[in-house]
Amino acid sequence: MAIAKLLRAKKAKNDEFYTQYKDVKSECDHYMSHFFNKIIYCNCDTADSAFVRYFSELKAQGLIRDIWFSGGLGGADFRSPESIERLKQADLIITNPPFSLFREFIELLFTNNKQFLILGNRSAIVYKYIFPKIKANELWFGVRRWSGGIDFITENGLRGVPAIWFTNIKHGFVPPNLPFKKSVFMPQYDNANAVNIDKSAYFPPDYTGIVGVPITFLEWYNPEKFELLGRDKEFTTDGDICRINGKPVYIRLFVRRIKDLHKCE
Ligand SMILES: C[S@@+](CC[C@H](N)C(=O)[O-])C[C@H]1O[C@@H](n2cnc3c(N)ncnc32)[C@H](O)[C@@H]1O
Repeated sequence: MAIAKLLRAKKAKNDEFYTQYKDVKSECDHYMSHFFNKIIYCNCDTADSAFVRYFSELKAQGLIRDIWFSGGLGGADFRSPESIERLKQADLIITNPPFSLFREFIELLFTNNKQFLILGNRSAIVYKYIFPKIKANELWFGVRRWSGGIDFITENGLRGVPAIWFTNIKHGFVPPNLPFKKSVFMPQYDNANAVNIDKSAYFPPDYTGIVGVPITFLEWYNPEKFELLGRDKEFTTDGDICRINGKPVYIRLFVRRIKDLHKCE
């Protein structure tokens, strides 16, 4: 019991990461045409949040209809009926929600058919609820590149987190071509009909077979160029994580270049 309480407290503490204004601005500026005349709801934000500051400035310039934030509702929980009512009325949900409630948060957005732009840890990609949305092209990533993560403001100063933007708004940015580095030997898995690479940069540009890649590959994922077939446990013959010569290989996604497109290039 005491341990559970301690873990909960630790989790809640990890939620107290604040986004820097420059990081809000550098991403949100790409979506300006989607914001025009819209009501933006920042449902995990108080008056001092960088999101609230950014959208208040847009409002002052007449570029959005309104900005609402949860602190303005007495710090309402995003799951409360009042907050859900606001969410339904708003056009876009834009925030950095508590990481400990990320799955619940994104589920609420999909259930209510909302357009959103939110920050989350990149490990959320393989969550049971989230990965199928990416595969179905109902959820994708922001414009910002992933390397280096994002520095958030904490009570102990800035802290780097492997956070990325998740969205279902068409921002029009197409990920650049995979930066192919060098050819490496690609071993076959024991329990999947595919070969393994450990770095996205090892993806051979002319290979059209199925390749198991780390999740960071999705930074380069363009559904017009690649088919996303599934994650490890959905794809392996035994429903287990991937293995090579008996050794486990953690978290792999299976992808394949789309042949015809490749020929056109
Ligand atoms: C990662 S922080 C980000 C804060 C702010 N959105 C920003 O970007 O600077 C997540 C915030 O959500 C708040 N929070 C935690 N649980 C919440 C809930 N159930 N409903 C609304 N906000 C919540 C936390 O107190 C925390 O301030």
